[in-house]
Amino acid sequence: MEKLIITRPDDWHLHLRNGGMLKTVLPHTARQFARAIVMPNLRPPITTVEQALSYRNEILAALPPGSAFEPLMTLYLTGSTSLAEVKAASESEHIHAFKLYPAGATTNSDAGVADPKQIYPILEALQKYDLPFLVHGEVVDPEIDIFDRERVFLETHLADIVKQFPALRIVVEHLTTQDAVEFVTEAGPQVAATITPQHLLYNRNALLVGGIKPHYYCLPILKREQHRQALVNAAISGNPKFFLGTDSAPHLQHLKEHACGCAGCYSAPLALELYAEAFEANSALDKLEGFASFYGADFYGLPRNSESVTLTKTTWTVPTDFDTGEGLLVPLRSGEQLTWKLI
Ligand code: DOR
Ligand code: ZN
Repeated sequence: MEKLIITRPDDWHLHLRNGGMLKTVLPHTARQFARAIVMPNLRPPITTVEQALSYRNEILAALPPGSAFEPLMTLYLTGSTSLAEVKAASESEHIHAFKLYPAGATTNSDAGVADPKQIYPILEALQKYDLPFLVHGEVVDPEIDIFDRERVFLETHLADIVKQFPALRIVVEHLTTQDAVEFVTEAGPQVAATITPQHLLYNRNALLVGGIKPHYYCLPILKREQHRQALVNAAISGNPKFFLGTDSAPHLQHLKEHACGCAGCYSAPLALELYAEAFEANSALDKLEGFASFYGADFYGLPRNSESVTLTKTTWTVPTDFDTGEGLLVPLRSGEQLTWKLI
């Protein structure tokens, strides 16, 4: 195939940050996607409707002129999130979900939730108001091996949440294991998942063989090949529970290429091309549109987009870096060639 025309996709998991970083990364996403679920893990985190609406205005102000991109806002759950805040969120047309970060699991998660049981009254309210509950599914117990943290979270916490709140809409974000694919597949239709391009294309060798490659470091961390294959099979299955969420997570170059490097892959400028590469490698380009443009919107109860985008078989070189004004930002596949191009 030389040309692929699909309905304009949405990104159901995105980090935009603020300030100079926001101004640099937003045009990259807005060029590819019509809408995105915007993660609330800023410093300080976005925990109230008021903060989310002001962040939304900051994003709209940073959009390139003429862009029709729509940010879909989320709130960060803490041990002190109130029932009143859930109600207020349910009454705002701009708030689409609440996000759980287990405290200490990842970037800017210190204000997150120590024990998910703590927030069961809030989950009850999310269920009542039919607001999606987005989960970073990893335990933080230092005894648990980093490669097992997703599986243990599902067994220890998520299985009980699904049982206690059978009507709660849940998105298990950025799946990385076969165990998670099975968990989501076996749950009811209220449980769905996002999958990133890096977890479809790479296993942990990309991160560790031939030297440490910090730009492939994200959380949850890349896993074994067996898990990558399970994710590919889920993404190309046509099962509407699995949809696109890049988890594009920009960090400045000097903080990635560091003795204690930050977690996050910056994929926004080439996200759709990476997904096309992964689907093509598995002879499943015909399944890309459902995954990228339909299932997420259906799950969130939003209309599908009406315009379309075109990808062509064109070789191009990914820019080595972007100047944010605060430092350089290095994308995934920096300086490498891609064979699909969004025009
Ligand atoms: O790799 C990651 N980066 N995983 C996350 O969960 C957070 C993200 C970030 O905000 O940088
Ligand atoms: Zn994320």
